[in-house]
Amino acid sequence: MNSVIAVASQKGGVGKTTTAINLAAMLARAKRKVLAIDLDPQANLTTGIGIDPIDGQRGVYGALLGLDSIEDAIVSNEEGFDIVPANRDLAGAQVELITVSRREFQLRDSLSSVRKEYNWILLDCPPSLNIVVINAMVAADSVIIPTQCEFFALQGLVELLSTIKTVQRNFNPDLKLNGILRTMYDTRNKLSREVSDQLKAHFDAQLYRTIIPRNVRLAEASSHGKSVLEYDKNCIGTTAYMAFAGELLNQESDI
Ligand SMILES: Nc1ncnc2c1ncn2[C@@H]1O[C@H](COP(=O)(O)OP(=O)(O)O)[C@@H](O)[C@H]1O
Ligand SMILES: [Mg+2]
Repeated sequence: MNSVIAVASQKGGVGKTTTAINLAAMLARAKRKVLAIDLDPQANLTTGIGIDPIDGQRGVYGALLGLDSIEDAIVSNEEGFDIVPANRDLAGAQVELITVSRREFQLRDSLSSVRKEYNWILLDCPPSLNIVVINAMVAADSVIIPTQCEFFALQGLVELLSTIKTVQRNFNPDLKLNGILRTMYDTRNKLSREVSDQLKAHFDAQLYRTIIPRNVRLAEASSHGKSVLEYDKNCIGTTAYMAFAGELLNQESDI
């Protein structure tokens, strides 16, 4: 089985990259073949896994613009999964794509040659709803939405769900919402609990059972260029992302 998942939210700092890295690491640990693609010019996934986003190395930019095949941009790392790195060049892709025909399908077309090689392909999106994110949603089978349990969470979700509907209507009728992941959850914080309850009231069927707690080990791991599994396999961040990976592995029988 293979599945392409976009990890998306137009909000920054909600845990997209942390989720992409650690989910990739946990799935790789479960002996799945995993590719993580960095679609953010800030290249947090690239650096977060200990790879230098050297300018001049085209990475995902070349693949998005149809200049390079995606195979040429794939690098492996010590965590046991492959990545396609990003760098600042990617910031220009948005403008350059404007003149490209089938611009929404660039990533999908590019991925077609490697899709079958991987069990899971994770697309780490930039905090926006731009053409690069549309490319991710057109290439994907489903979307994971990480959401912080804070005041504007619901409002952001409604906007994102409407973008998913637009992509379904125009480009990718098979696109699904994989689920909504509560991140950086703080049990001591009353607002965290209230927003989580609101999410349950509105989106119960789409919410993952796993909730990712706020855990400083997750932030430390990225700053050391490692997944949390490599950095501290006994912390609550590892346990949570392991449980989350378990929920996705359960989907393998349905796909
Ligand atoms: N569960 C968590 N607990 C503590 N810090 C976290 C957690 N998830 C992410 N972070 C930190 O919060 C910041 C934003 O997370 P990140 O994954 O980069 O978000 P995004 O990709 O959505 O912008 C980063 O510094 C990251 O290390
Ligand atoms: Mg990010």
